[in-house]
Amino acid sequence: MITIKSDYELSLMKVAGKIVYDTHQYLKPFIKEGITTGELDKLAHDYIISRDAYPSCLNYEGFPKSICISVNEEVVHGIPGKRKLKNGDIVTLDICACYKGYHGDSAWTYPVGEISEDKKYLLEHTEKALYEGLSKIKDGVRLGDISNAIEEYACKHKLGVVRELTGHGIGNNLHEDPDVPNFGKKGTGPVLKKGMTIAVEPMLNLGTRKIYILDDDWTIITGDNKPSAHFEHTVIVTEDGCEILTGGDNIE
Ligand code: MF3
Ligand code: CO
Repeated sequence: MITIKSDYELSLMKVAGKIVYDTHQYLKPFIKEGITTGELDKLAHDYIISRDAYPSCLNYEGFPKSICISVNEEVVHGIPGKRKLKNGDIVTLDICACYKGYHGDSAWTYPVGEISEDKKYLLEHTEKALYEGLSKIKDGVRLGDISNAIEEYACKHKLGVVRELTGHGIGNNLHEDPDVPNFGKKGTGPVLKKGMTIAVEPMLNLGTRKIYILDDDWTIITGDNKPSAHFEHTVIVTEDGCEILTGGDNIE
């Protein structure tokens, strides 16, 4: 069931979204050669707690750390640890925070120092694919229109669309109905209504769309070891568009 949130629930989600956005901004200056993913996780954990929120990923289905950090060919769900970032890496911070029972969720892929033209291309077009999808959202739209916009944009730019993982509804659960795939047909799927809240999150690959899971049972990597990028915002469906909760304009 896709729920429509009350104004009170939306007010809590706005705070959660703002905390997620602020955590990204707080971490950005630390994303440099030499820092370990474990150190970034600790900084994120302490920051989220300092904002009276809880890092929703911690213990989620047994996930052992507070945020997901995925480097280069890692698509999602990388477990922070001893790995040191290197100049030329790309790194995805996927951050979730829960404030008074309501969640915000946003992933962003960042360059570490100077990156290759290929990686710049991947980052630019994965971010644009997210906004392409978001641009279709409004009261009454079919979910397939959003999925299709992302897929078309990715295909036009010859990027592999990961199919096994999707965006999702979000609210007092981190993952709610509906699934929000990054591929699909226009005019299909559930109708979105004002007051629904969803996380849209294209995961695009420079090469094959195929993915594998590592022996740690969490980290997902690309089938050909080429880099992958991931951009995600949590949004409210509105009358004539959407309101981004995890972006800079959500000032509470
Ligand atoms: N942020 C992820 C998402 O978008 C959730 C990760 S859950 C974890 O759905 F357990 F892997 F942390
Ligand atoms: Co998500």
